[in-house]
This record gives sequence, C-alpha cells and structure tokens, in this order.
Amino acid sequence: MHVALLTGGGDCAGLDTVVRTLTLSLLNRQIQVTGIEQGYAGLMRHQWRALSFSEVQTLSDVGGSLLGCHNRANPFADPDHDGTDVSAQVLAWARERRIDGVVAIGGDGTLSIAARLHALGLPHLVVPKTIDNDLAGTQGCVGFDTAVSVVTEALQRLRTTARSHGRVLILHTMGRNTGWLALYAGIAAQADVILLPELPIVQQHIVDLCRQRGASPGLGHTIICAAEAVDVQALKEALAQALPCEVRSVRLGHVQRGGPPTATDRLLATHLAQAAAQDAAARRFGYLIGWQGGRCRRVAFNSRHQWTRKVPTGHPLVQAAADLGVNLGQ
Ligand code: F6P
Repeated sequence: MHVALLTGGGDCAGLDTVVRTLTLSLLNRQIQVTGIEQGYAGLMRHQWRALSFSEVQTLSDVGGSLLGCHNRANPFADPDHDGTDVSAQVLAWARERRIDGVVAIGGDGTLSIAARLHALGLPHLVVPKTIDNDLAGTQGCVGFDTAVSVVTEALQRLRTTARSHGRVLILHTMGRNTGWLALYAGIAAQADVILLPELPIVQQHIVDLCRQRGASPGLGHTIICAAEAVDVQALKEALAQALPCEVRSVRLGHVQRGGPPTATDRLLATHLAQAAAQDAAARRFGYLIGWQGGRCRRVAFNSRHQWTRKVPTGHPLVQAAADLGVNLGQ
C-alpha cells in the first residue's frame, strides 16, 4: 500500500509532529509513505520524496513543515495557469504513482480541495490544523494551542510596559475571520478588553472604559486584545483622540505561527495522526479526523457544506469574560 502526505495552507507549529506520527505509524505497518512538497502545489508540479524513519524520527519538537506549505495552490484553479482546472492531471499522476490515498494536514481551504479530489476518485483524509481554530467538525486544531501561548506571553509582556507608562496598548492577533485566538489568549492573559468579530463593538464604551481606568489610582493602563478581523486602526484613532494618554498598537503577525509546538499541540497532533494512520491503513478514507470530547471522531466530507466555525456568542469563555468584568466591546 502507498500513502501520500501533504501540509496544505499556511504553516503552524505541530505540523511536523503530525508528519512524524503518520510516517512512523504507516512505515511500521509496511506501508510506503511519500511526502508531497509545498501542499497541493507538489501534487500539481510532481514534487515529492519518499519519507523514511530517519528523516522523521526527531521531528516532534520542530516548528514549520518539513514538506513545505503553499496557501494558494488549488488543482481546481491553478494560480500559475490563469485558474485552469488541472485536477484530471493530478488524478492521473496519482494513479501512475500508485498512490492509494492522501492524508492532507490543513484547514478549511485544504479540506474543500481534499473533499473534491476524494469525490473524483483520489481517496483523502484530513487532519485539522490552523492557528485560527475555526474548522467545523473539530474542537481542536493542531497549532492553535501554541499560537494561544505565544499571544498570551505577548500580552503579559505588554502589560508590564503599559503599566509603567500608563498607556493603552492594543494587541492585534491573527485568526482570519473568527475570534478564537483573541478570546483564548485574552482570557489567559487577563486582558482588559477582548474584541472579536463575532460580537458587536461599541467604540464609545471602550473609550469610556479606558478613560475610567486611566483615572483610577493603581490602574492607569488598559490592555486590549483584538482579533484580526477587528478594525484596530479606527479604534486606535478614536481612542487617541479621546484620551489624554498614549495609545499604541502591536501586530504580532507570523510570530504566532512560528517556533516549536507546545506539549499540548504535540499530543493533539499525535492523537489525530495516529487515528489517521489507522484509517488509511484500513483504506477508510473520506473523513476529517476531528477532535471532539477528548477523542478522535470521523466527520464525513459530505456531511457539511460550511466548514468555518465561528465563536458562538454563548461560548463558556464569552460567559466567563462577562463574569470576570472583561469588556467585550459592548
Ligand atoms: O489561517 C492562518 C493565518 O495565519 C490567518 O490567521 C491569517 O489571516 C493568514 O493565515 C495569514 O496568511 P499569510 O501567511 O498568507 O499572510
């Protein structure tokens, strides 16, 4: 049997733990393992290499992807050839190389490509990864915990300097269209204000809070954790105009995606990849390997049309924020 692996979309910490676990688990079952380079670009351009025990043995604590990533490659709309559909060539190549199935490690973009190729006859499994944690069908995505830790530490560091200068400091996280990363890190780091795209934001309330904190002995500063989809520039301008103190913003950017995975991400990656290896070995394809209720669950590709998961307004951490007196923009 022959299984191919690829890491689709943007990178994150923990991808190589997935690659390591899959490769070792499959090789130990006498299954040939091919690593496709640069996500789906490698399938389209025939860039691949055989993966061996020695290459992956000590990968668990490494960040990024051994195989490389590509977040625009799409066999159904090749960005290098005016959006041409090259899926038939991809399928033909996979048949020629006698690939029995592909395990794609990715987020929603990867999932939609995987599901379409699977339907056309190239069997797929998907292992969920994204620092955005916004994939439906799973409560956990590889890379999220590491990104939460990075943002949490950054917020803690901002707190001490904001306090010293009596400033308002806004940290702008990644997270694309959802607020998972900002919510989790904001709660962990005791941010004073957490802003998510899922909740309405009344700027004046944030201005009032910062003014009040600025005038309170012992407070004087405010830490705001804002998700990527929040318009931080407009908020910063409104705050700077209304407040006597300095207002600064920090964009953390790709720092959130780099570096070694946390132990929690390594363990999640190991659970998911081991389940994927088991399924691949049994030729059970057509699923996202989700993490639900502390265990792996198969979620069929054809069970959903929409794979993006927003923060529900009734999420326990939204409730906790309200109980803790954290301002959520209202
Ligand atoms: O999906 C992961 C993510 O890091 C998002 O949070 C962010 O919006 C995007 O990718 C950034 O992508 P790029 O590395 O292409 O700028």
